[in-house]
Amino acid sequence: MTDIDPAPHPFAAPGCPAHPDAVPLAGLEYQQSPSELYRGLRGEHGAVAPVLLDGAIPAWLVLGYPEVSYVTSHDELFARDSRRWNQWDRIPPDWPLMPYVGHQPSVLFTEGEEHRRRADVITQALSGVDQFELARDCRLLADRLIASFAGSGRAELMSAYAHALPMRAAVRVCGMPHGAAETTQLVEDLRISLDAAEGDDPVAAYTRVGERIHALVRHKRERPGPDVTSRMLTHPAGLTDEETVQDLISVIAAAQQPTANWIGNTLRLLLTDERFALNVSGGRLSVGEALNEVLWLDTPTQNFIGRWAVNDTQLGGRQIRAGDCLVLGLAAANTDPQLWPEAHVGAENSAHLSFSNGEHRCPYPAPLLADVIARTAVETLLERLPDLVLAVEPEALTWRPSIWMRGLTALPAVFTPVVA
Ligand code: HEM
Repeated sequence: MTDIDPAPHPFAAPGCPAHPDAVPLAGLEYQQSPSELYRGLRGEHGAVAPVLLDGAIPAWLVLGYPEVSYVTSHDELFARDSRRWNQWDRIPPDWPLMPYVGHQPSVLFTEGEEHRRRADVITQALSGVDQFELARDCRLLADRLIASFAGSGRAELMSAYAHALPMRAAVRVCGMPHGAAETTQLVEDLRISLDAAEGDDPVAAYTRVGERIHALVRHKRERPGPDVTSRMLTHPAGLTDEETVQDLISVIAAAQQPTANWIGNTLRLLLTDERFALNVSGGRLSVGEALNEVLWLDTPTQNFIGRWAVNDTQLGGRQIRAGDCLVLGLAAANTDPQLWPEAHVGAENSAHLSFSNGEHRCPYPAPLLADVIARTAVETLLERLPDLVLAVEPEALTWRPSIWMRGLTALPAVFTPVVA
């Protein structure tokens, strides 16, 4: 499985006649309007398109809803261990996507029985989180964060709120004894590890995240408590400290980053779309609809890397070679016009692929916990600051330079100052 296939990929070479049109999955145009790019790719290539990742590394972007469902539910054909990739000989150790694509001994890259063992520990540990307690804690955390900027009449909501709240909630449920400054640094390191922005060092940021989690695991071995970390350490599966560290990084990164962008994208929708404008304040139904609409049309984890073909196979009419990388185009699949010609985004319809699908999907009960955090965050903000509006024109909002995440770089807002 670790063998490297030295043969050049059919669309790796520049100017290759077979696929001269492989499109870079990066760049300003892509960040600002990925749906345009997906539409174009679908029109030109169908459900599976040749793309280039950072450094012109070839991969397939799976854009079709049936195709993403098929790939994620056939582990025997499309597996999760990235060491299968036939491109590793072209990838430098400081490759910006390395933190979450380079193989780690974590749940993310395990397969079969070993995956079930690790995923079971996470499911059990997360099931111990009381959802009512979590909602109450999130409300308190939200109130505290809002109080820190309410008197000024303005706030940059991504950093001051959308990122801060899920991180504090995750730190709390995992039993991390960290202060506010360390928690803020953890948020920043997770952002850098996913964005691959000019001047950032994602690999170094990911290493710093790992060091913090190591310290947490050492602490909880000595002083267990009623938290996710302690439940993972005492689970009968007997995870080693290293396995626990790796899986906790997955849990914390997954809890913070997509949930923060779910909150941010929902606030943007509520503040910019007139369908929601009339009854935003206190309009609980609208908040629920906005949260669900975002999962369909502006999903936080827009792409997920990925799966690797176990053998030569076919997908969407494409010849896929053993070891090829498939990027799960979750955002593209959610808007697949073959399946959803129109009006599929109803409050009752939750058949989107935003939490992925199959063996490696976002594990139960993580989506429920994320919903509690995001819903409480949005509702509390709108209740406390009912006349909140954007401080800039909607077109001035910019998106993160991330292939993984669909999230705003900033969300500046103004409101009537609230004196405590
Ligand atoms: C409390 C919040 C959350 C926690 C604790 C959490 C936890 C996790 C974990 C541990 C995994 C790895 C599963 C595995 O490989 O077996 C995962 C995967 C994933 N999660 Fe979550 N998650 C959370 C929120 C979210 C949100 C809000 C989204 C997006 C809306 C999301 C989307 C995903 C996706 C797309 C995957 C990838 C699955 C794949 O490889 O197919 N998660 N999550």
